[in-house]
Amino acid sequence: MNFIDKEIEEYAKLYTSNEPELLKELAEFTETNMPMAQMLTGKIEGRLLKMLVALTGAKSILEIGMFTGYSALSLAEALPEDGRLLTCDIDEEVAKLAQEYFARSLHGSKITVQLGPALETLSKTNQTFDLVFLDADKENYVEYYQSIIPKLNSNGLLVIDNCLWSGKVLEPQAETDVAIHKLNQLIVTDPRVENVVLTVRDGVNLVRKL
Ligand SMILES: C[S@@+](CC[C@H](N)C(=O)[O-])C[C@H]1O[C@@H](n2cnc3c(N)ncnc32)[C@H](O)[C@@H]1O
Repeated sequence: MNFIDKEIEEYAKLYTSNEPELLKELAEFTETNMPMAQMLTGKIEGRLLKMLVALTGAKSILEIGMFTGYSALSLAEALPEDGRLLTCDIDEEVAKLAQEYFARSLHGSKITVQLGPALETLSKTNQTFDLVFLDADKENYVEYYQSIIPKLNSNGLLVIDNCLWSGKVLEPQAETDVAIHKLNQLIVTDPRVENVVLTVRDGVNLVRKL
């Protein structure tokens, strides 16, 4: 289901602040050279992520699902100089590409890449975070959520991508549809948090820890 009219989406893009040239280049390179390029968050969500970091004053960020690094660089852009972003991915090839772009960015030195299954990374870290961006294997979304909430600081923000999953949450059938719908159900009844589901791109669930 394409739930955002294409022309409206284009209009929204046009009237959203521009991303830096390096991010434009990264998006174009990903589109031309990478299979599954549609996984990249893109201009509107990227600018939203940057704005959320700026508004919350987050200094410690965790990203689960880095891909070619577009969202990591968008998040890092609003981090202060002493702010830190830990980003996770399982795919060495995309990590190599992302790191080439991090090396060219003014904000790249704030980013640490952790290769491997993100659930393992999460279970090993003692760090806590002001903001977490969840954008990896959807079938494990509920498990991710349960591991992330204890590591999120009070008043911290969890941003979950693809929470509307092209509308498939309306009649969940495949494993991924069911997992995403289950997580949406869990969040809205979880007394530890409050949340807003935004119809941005493929759906963004904004979850604030109380
Ligand atoms: C939707 S993409 C992330 C897009 C990225 N946030 C962006 O804006 O460009 C999902 C990423 O999660 C990674 N991934 C999948 N399963 C994973 C796992 N178990 N642990 C860590 N990363 C995983 C994939 O390799 C892929 O690069």
